[in-house]
Amino acid sequence: VESLAGRDLCSIADFSTIEVEAVLKLAHDVKARPMDYRWALDAKQMVMFFEKASLRTRLTFETAINTLGGSAIFVDQTQSPLGERESLADMSRNLERWVSLIVLRTYAHETITEMASYAACPVINALSDLEHPCQALADFLTLEQKFGTAKGLRFSYVGDGNNVCHSLMLTAAQLGAHCVVGSPKNYAPKADIVAQARAIANATGGSIELVSDPVAAVTGADAVYTDVCTSMGMEHEVTKRAPIFKPYQVNEALMAHAAPHAVFMHCLPAHRNAEVTDAVLDGPQSVVFDQAENRMHAQKALMLLLLGGAQNVRKEATK
Ligand code: CP
Ligand code: NVA
Repeated sequence: VESLAGRDLCSIADFSTIEVEAVLKLAHDVKARPMDYRWALDAKQMVMFFEKASLRTRLTFETAINTLGGSAIFVDQTQSPLGERESLADMSRNLERWVSLIVLRTYAHETITEMASYAACPVINALSDLEHPCQALADFLTLEQKFGTAKGLRFSYVGDGNNVCHSLMLTAAQLGAHCVVGSPKNYAPKADIVAQARAIANATGGSIELVSDPVAAVTGADAVYTDVCTSMGMEHEVTKRAPIFKPYQVNEALMAHAAPHAVFMHCLPAHRNAEVTDAVLDGPQSVVFDQAENRMHAQKALMLLLLGGAQNVRKEATK
């Protein structure tokens, strides 16, 4: 898919259905035959600026680019938000002279879209307050591995209508899944993203449904997904949110309403025995560590396509 070379990934909706499918198709191949891609991004440099903590995203981007022959520079931005010392425009005019790829984890989503608008090289959203597109790619890679296809799957998200929820809804729509979000009043996903996801779903045969009853949300589900009820940056709301989200806990009783073959999913880190019980998180239906592994494979595929490295694979593989 040459159309992805040089592109940004700020929102997963920046990609068409065909483009998301292309990333996932390549991710399956990269996962199956990693050595074929060993030097596909030889000598490419990636820089990562993170305003928030990370385990999975940082490590999977670094392991991914290292094993493709490139390297990563990590800049801890947790003590000073991006754009404070120097404008995003000036930063990007510097960065594009040195690196091939910019990866950002921010509070404000606009920090990412603004950097993308200035920088000549691709910019990837590694989580913002609005979206987490790399997570959604890994999660639908996981679902395709478990079920063969995401098309027609009943995908249930229970909990806060947050960044992860937004990207999952959009990706479910792109891939023709039936997405049901069960969240408390005032914690539903953003209306404009719901509308955007519904417009996409109309074209793919998928659907987006919002409910407030957690049992209704998971009944008959092929996949039950939850995330923390208090995201990074909202820590001051922990005590307020805990009782509101209690009925939305994914426990064995709630999972019993899903299909018997249903998988349990979580982007991690989990607050154990808050949004999900140990029994579910550590139970036989849980695929949370497959999701975590797939972050690396999905991001390899993403970087290969954005940096145009996928074309060089066969040639480079003989090195
Ligand atoms: N799931 C995820 O993005 O994890 P980190 O916050 O540890 O990167
Ligand atoms: N919704 C969570 C996801 C963490 C990976 C957050 O933004 O903190």
